[in-house]
Amino acid sequence: MFNKEEIMEISVKTSKGTYKVITGRGILRDAAKYMNLCRRVLIVTDSGVPAEYARAVAGQAKAPVIYTVREGEGSKSLESYKILIEELIKHGFTRTDCIVAVGGGVVGDLAGFVAATYMRGIDFYNVPTTVLSQVDSSVGGKTAIDVMDIKNVAGAFYPPKAVLMDFDTLSTLPQRQISNGLAEAVKMAVTMDKGLFEVMENEDITAKGNIDNIIRRSVEIKKRVVEEDEHEASLRRVLNFGHTVAHGIESVNGLKNYLHGECVAMGMPLCCAPHVRERLVRVLEGLHLPTKVDMDIDAVIEASSHDKKLSGDNITEIYVNKIGEFEMVQMPFDEYKRQIREAFIK
Ligand code: GLY
Repeated sequence: MFNKEEIMEISVKTSKGTYKVITGRGILRDAAKYMNLCRRVLIVTDSGVPAEYARAVAGQAKAPVIYTVREGEGSKSLESYKILIEELIKHGFTRTDCIVAVGGGVVGDLAGFVAATYMRGIDFYNVPTTVLSQVDSSVGGKTAIDVMDIKNVAGAFYPPKAVLMDFDTLSTLPQRQISNGLAEAVKMAVTMDKGLFEVMENEDITAKGNIDNIIRRSVEIKKRVVEEDEHEASLRRVLNFGHTVAHGIESVNGLKNYLHGECVAMGMPLCCAPHVRERLVRVLEGLHLPTKVDMDIDAVIEASSHDKKLSGDNITEIYVNKIGEFEMVQMPFDEYKRQIREAFIK
């Protein structure tokens, strides 16, 4: 395990160069040490993020502009995209200026996509302030917006210049949001890191210090995956473990009752061998996450057929038969439906 108080840098190699993920506590107040803020800086945040985080970055920038979008997936829209591009034009941003996202996955995806496309690409920094975005979306260079209710349909692989992960920003999150993010860390552990999974079984993973280490180890796992398969040709699909069913739940439920990580927590146990499922469910329940789909399973499976992993009549699904290892299986969609239904009934 890492030293709890240390500032740690994890380098991620991409086809467009290497960027650092800087992790630690209190590092937001030294943001200018890690990001070049001596220029025009558009800071994009949302209404659910404490305003002091964006202000901390602005206070260290030469010419800052803060723009706050509404909290929620609805802001990953063409409308917000247009507003931000216009904001950049209005304030005379040139190709040598930059954008900083301060918030969760919505803000990171939106601001990253704006950065990827404004003048064919300007520097982008990400300051993820939720467990979910620290564990998953801030690393790997995916940026996107939703159009006509289709998630991430317009997007780009656009690596950030740096990611600044200040674990102190997690102290303002409600417990439900912490568990929501940790569901993705459990996903990484159960598919790829037996040692980390055992830590999750044996320790209070939400405790300060422990959570820092869990997030860092998840970032290390994600780094290895995206370095090997930056553009999701194969290995990166492991990160979709539990997500086919999760996306089905999100379509049926419209994210009204459940957060994304909660949907993943309900999806994962359906794709495991029974002895893995038992241990997985115990860890998820320890985080107070739901582990059983509580809606019409046929409707969920049907809705998951719109998932992007579908190609023709086949689906690529991730299964875990042994803690820390996974299998990627291609099968006809009807067979997939049969297996999920069978796992659900058991
Ligand atoms: N969140 C999945 C990925 O980055 O590929």
